[in-house]
Amino acid sequence: MKSQRTNDDAQMKDGKREYAFTRRDFDRVRTLIREHAGIHLNDTKQDMVYSRIARRIRSTRMETFQEYLDALENNTDEWEQFVNSLTTNLTSFFREGYHFPILADFLRSKRGERIRIWCAAASTGEEPYSIAMTAIQAFDNASPPVEIIATDIDTHALAVAEKGIYPLERIKRLTPDKLTFFHKGVGANAGKVRITKEVRKLVTFRKLNLLEKNWDVQGPLDVIFCRNVLIYFDRPIQRQLVERFSPLLSSDGLLFIGHSETLAQDKDLFKLRGKTVYENSRRSQSLARSRHAA
Ligand SMILES: C[S@@+](CC[C@H](N)C(=O)[O-])C[C@H]1O[C@@H](n2cnc3c(N)ncnc32)[C@H](O)[C@@H]1O
Repeated sequence: MKSQRTNDDAQMKDGKREYAFTRRDFDRVRTLIREHAGIHLNDTKQDMVYSRIARRIRSTRMETFQEYLDALENNTDEWEQFVNSLTTNLTSFFREGYHFPILADFLRSKRGERIRIWCAAASTGEEPYSIAMTAIQAFDNASPPVEIIATDIDTHALAVAEKGIYPLERIKRLTPDKLTFFHKGVGANAGKVRITKEVRKLVTFRKLNLLEKNWDVQGPLDVIFCRNVLIYFDRPIQRQLVERFSPLLSSDGLLFIGHSETLAQDKDLFKLRGKTVYENSRRSQSLARSRHAA
């Protein structure tokens, strides 16, 4: 799927356009995806938008961008494909690896409690499965007291995640202790690996658009991973999300964000605890209150 996208993107650079694509078409796509998913596409994304939507036009046997975009609004199934085709799902196992020892320490500090984790832009599953593997190792127990809710707007990515089957090269850089969480495929599945059942059973996947008014995720949560998705949103949307995360997260909970994201403007809600790891400011406030009362 992704390699197909890359080929299409490359073809675009040769200027071989199958369909006429005007600035107006680009702006329409841009407005629709922004209103619906919050994703901001800047001018450098024109070729990417062309190649991905051209593929949808081809599949739906339509003839122009205008025809496709006119039809889109009344077609729920195509709407889902439209969103899926414009997301960027780049992820990997133990991406931004410095987060996982912090998570492991946090989980160990909660021994004896049931721990709830939300992975809010789970993409194809590598991130929530990395969280699950970390929990199994932190507790040295194949059934740790951990529940991971993994959500994403992209139903295609979620279907891949749910299967838990990946090309072998996706785990090439993992250390031997992590490789024990994968079965190697044989015969027709040679060259692929599957996540073990013990890891898969800790994770529940479901579709969730972060822009929705009501999130199907109940608090209190101990940990929220929302990595490498805030970057696609503009500042007012980022702020709205962060405002909604705060009351969902327990007062001693942790919020993990991506390497190029920051909550520097949200100090009233989240305090930096480590590299792109934040704690709820409610914790510092209640600690200060208890120190004051003592
Ligand atoms: C670059 S991936 C990041 C994956 C993973 N969190 C990581 O850091 O490796 C961004 C993900 O955000 C998802 N996404 C984009 N807009 C979203 C929205 N409005 N609601 C939920 N997920 C969204 C995309 O579908 C994509 O899977």
